[in-house]
Amino acid sequence: MANFETVEVTTDLLIVGGGMAACGAAVEAAYWAKKSGLKVTLVDKAAVDRSGAVAMGLSAINQYVGLKDGQNSMKDYVDYVRNDLMGITREDLVFNIARHVDSSVHLFEKWGLPIWKDAEGNYVHEGRWQLMINGESYKVIVAEAAKNALGMENIYERIFIVGPIMDGDRCVGAVGFSVREDKFYVFKAKSVLVAMGGAVHVFKPRSSGEGLGRAWYPPWNSGSSAYFTLKAGAEMTCQEVRFIPVRFKDAYGPVGAWFLLFKSRATNGLGEAYMQTRAGELENWKPYGKVKPVPANLRNWLMMLDVNEGKGPIFMRTDEAINKIAESEGDEKAAKKKLRELESEAWEDFLDMTISQAILWAATNTAPEQKPSEIAAAEPYFIGSHSGASGAWVSGPKDMAPEEYFWGYDNMSTINGLFCAGDASGASSHKFSSGSHAEGRIAAKAAIRFVLDHPEDVNVDTAAIKEIKAEILKPLDIYAEFSGKTVTPDVNPNYILPKMFMFRLQKIMDEYAGGVSTAFTTSNTLLERGLELLSFLREDAAHLAAADLHDLMRCWENVHRMWQAEAHVRTLLFRDETRWPGYYFRSDKPVMDNENWLAFANCKYDPDTGDWEMIKRPVVHIYNEL
Ligand code: ADX
Repeated sequence: MANFETVEVTTDLLIVGGGMAACGAAVEAAYWAKKSGLKVTLVDKAAVDRSGAVAMGLSAINQYVGLKDGQNSMKDYVDYVRNDLMGITREDLVFNIARHVDSSVHLFEKWGLPIWKDAEGNYVHEGRWQLMINGESYKVIVAEAAKNALGMENIYERIFIVGPIMDGDRCVGAVGFSVREDKFYVFKAKSVLVAMGGAVHVFKPRSSGEGLGRAWYPPWNSGSSAYFTLKAGAEMTCQEVRFIPVRFKDAYGPVGAWFLLFKSRATNGLGEAYMQTRAGELENWKPYGKVKPVPANLRNWLMMLDVNEGKGPIFMRTDEAINKIAESEGDEKAAKKKLRELESEAWEDFLDMTISQAILWAATNTAPEQKPSEIAAAEPYFIGSHSGASGAWVSGPKDMAPEEYFWGYDNMSTINGLFCAGDASGASSHKFSSGSHAEGRIAAKAAIRFVLDHPEDVNVDTAAIKEIKAEILKPLDIYAEFSGKTVTPDVNPNYILPKMFMFRLQKIMDEYAGGVSTAFTTSNTLLERGLELLSFLREDAAHLAAADLHDLMRCWENVHRMWQAEAHVRTLLFRDETRWPGYYFRSDKPVMDNENWLAFANCKYDPDTGDWEMIKRPVVHIYNEL
């Protein structure tokens, strides 16, 4: 058996993850822990400076409510999010994040993040809720504050966390392994805060062959949050609400600046603007079809209708948009100057957050002021922080949560001591980077309170941990035992390598659960068949093999993806309607059924019996409904 040293770390609060939510949690937890003499530990699969969804940087902060200037109210934000998600949102959670998000943004600025300012010194907005930033170093700046708050001695980097440690119905830690040394880690804690992001590469990506690995959301986010919470027995929500971003084709560059700041149009291959020509379709999705802005999934849907009729490709009219703004300057000289300014802003938009898109522009001789660029709907992602909603079902804030949504501690899942933030918590979309940070702060403060309320020592079953260690390291043993039995270790009947396992998972999801190849369309029969194929994949997961530590991580990443996939398929089946046609379309249930399904579709895995339970929960408003 693989001979790994076991390293034990005992702490009060364990923060699992190192992205925006985890960094927010670190800053806040350190503050409250210091007052009470508690210990806070953070563990990250990578290095906090450049980990998580913001690793590469961002060109905008997408959630800034601007409460101080009085232009927007809390209700405005809650309305925006609920409508964008076709009525399915936890308003109490959205409210809680929105009331704190501006303070996170002000902290970022204080820590050194350059936010664009106009001549009067006001923030430059991209859209109503979005601010423009020079954000290449956004994550480094936010990480520095987290590192300073906790101290590097309390931060463990390059440790891949596999799953939870339970003490009855309480989560009391996490287990994982170093991706650099032969060490197995056991973190014991009185409270655990999960912020390991969402999931990519569950579905077959558009990028294949030489482009494999290029995705919109970072490929290292592999469903670890969902796996962790599911395996702890936590109730999950909105597992059907995947996100399909429309992005610049092939390199996944952001569209926000083009649509909102530059006010660009998107047109089909015939030069028609689908948002105008297809506007009638919005009637079918009332009341949400008639709100402004049109919900993200419906914007997708109108475009997909054109594509499905063979009217592609779809172009972002960068040329038209930039020239229109420049020409409005009045005289020719000013227009020329403005054009140069816009050109550089356009390039920076990509260089700040999606460098490959700038490289693709360069490689294809694309001058955005001269030539439009293709955009396309990407493969599905699991991301509770953007315009999707998947994550754990968590308690709301005491002052705002209806009683159905409140069980003591902000952002605690249905498992005692297990808190979630960022992409790990569900039904609170549109928190993006800044809101995830704010939510991390909210969750961490509550988690510290939980520790203070439950100071007793936690019990960790050593025999069970030994078994878990053997199971986690098993892929190394399998490889060591069998890889020499064939001429090439790539082809071997005794095991499956993680990449092939991932390809199988992606093919199942693509073909049966409404991926790119099936135009995001699925049905009861397809889903039932997909579930059957997933059950075979689950059997084969026991035969995953890893040649080294890196592949061991790949094995577990793909197991995590598989669990995210199963929760997704089960929930797609449970929700007997089509509610977000531009995210997925149920061909057998092609319409929205508000009478029966204006409700949350939740699910729960029972770690003792292995059974799944599907649960309908009511949508309760804190403000009046639309
Ligand atoms: S990003 O995460 O890659 O920056 P994206 O480019 O989708 O996101 O958009 C940034 C922000 O603008 C998000 O808040 C998104 O919801 C919003 N947005 C993008 N396009 C539109 C649009 N056409 N109408 C309204 N809001 C939009």
